Amino acid sequence: MNISQLSRRAVIATAVTLTMPLAMAQTPQKLKIGLMLPATGTFAALGTAIENGFRLHLAEQGGKLGGREVEFFKVDDESDPSKAIDNVNKLIKRDNVDVLIGSVHSGVAMAMARVAKGTGTLMINPNGGADAVTGSMCAVNIFRSSFSNWQPGFAIGQAMAAKGHKTAATITWKYAAGDEMARGFKEGFEKSGGKVTKELSLPFPNVEFQSLLTEIASAKPDAVFSFFAGGGAVKFVKDYDGAGLKKSIPLFGTGFLTDGTLEAQGASAEGVLTSLHYADNLNTPRDNAFRLAYAKTFKMQPDVYAVQGYDAAQMLGIGLAAVKGDAKNTAGFAAALTKATIDSPRGKFTISKAHNPIQDMYLRQVSGKENKVIGVASKALEDPATGCRI
Ligand code: PHB
Repeated sequence: MNISQLSRRAVIATAVTLTMPLAMAQTPQKLKIGLMLPATGTFAALGTAIENGFRLHLAEQGGKLGGREVEFFKVDDESDPSKAIDNVNKLIKRDNVDVLIGSVHSGVAMAMARVAKGTGTLMINPNGGADAVTGSMCAVNIFRSSFSNWQPGFAIGQAMAAKGHKTAATITWKYAAGDEMARGFKEGFEKSGGKVTKELSLPFPNVEFQSLLTEIASAKPDAVFSFFAGGGAVKFVKDYDGAGLKKSIPLFGTGFLTDGTLEAQGASAEGVLTSLHYADNLNTPRDNAFRLAYAKTFKMQPDVYAVQGYDAAQMLGIGLAAVKGDAKNTAGFAAALTKATIDSPRGKFTISKAHNPIQDMYLRQVSGKENKVIGVASKALEDPATGCRI
């Protein structure tokens, strides 16, 4: 290399160093989003729908939220609470994410919330209904785009009583989501004059329902309340029908029992009554546009999980825009979100002081391959947020 080559290199190097800080100042670093969702197990399809919904909104925003391009870091949490702390620490410590999105399972969501609270990391929960997440564990940096377990449980309890049923059995998985939805159901049902006469459960994610169905048959309640979801819900609804119970003891549930599952449940699900913050025939311009875009992009129909993922991205975008992309400014982020109205495919909703959606709970009935709205079970229902102090 001769002198003139050397000095040309030096000139280029100087030019690069001079222009670099300018260029960096103009392009903020990518926002690191940690997606902690199930990719395997009974809730795998739910995780996929949440991620699809999230990516759909992001694409509609030209790939940016709050002015920042995004980069995803993913872990499969397997809906296993015992691995949740390790999994969330991978995202926070190893990948250094700015925001956590997750998860589906209530126990996993609670573990995430514990770590998010301890580290101050922004978290948006796109499903897991554990009441504590926006109750006793609530925090300035923790939000939910979905529901508390109490909300759809309470709503369907009132609706079952309004149909004239006096006694009910409950059947669910024995963990936070099942316990809390059944508790919400009992409160709504008994406050409206009903009586829960039998409470049945089995460990998550077991699907050996036969002996419990035999107990229901001999107890002869007026109706049954149940919470199952994903693969477990498919099997439960088919087994309930297969045991010959559907005609004599009407089946009710939180809407997860029949959401994203109707293809697989077939005629067994026909007529099942549920309550949820979404339905298939809302037929609003907002929802129709969402459903069309989702079906075109992913070649499948959206469900409640897709909507919750979509709205998690919307909430992230709204909050970040208010703090100019600074995910560490959780107080500014929270102030913006608690004042916002989220224009969701489910219908507009607001965010409570505890950071949980205040939303309508629809009464739905399965008809063919759709969860059809037949009324509003509870209007603008707000979770009581027991124990939350923010
Ligand atoms: C939960 O564990 O909170 C949960 C899981 C699946 C659902 C709904 C709630 O569909």
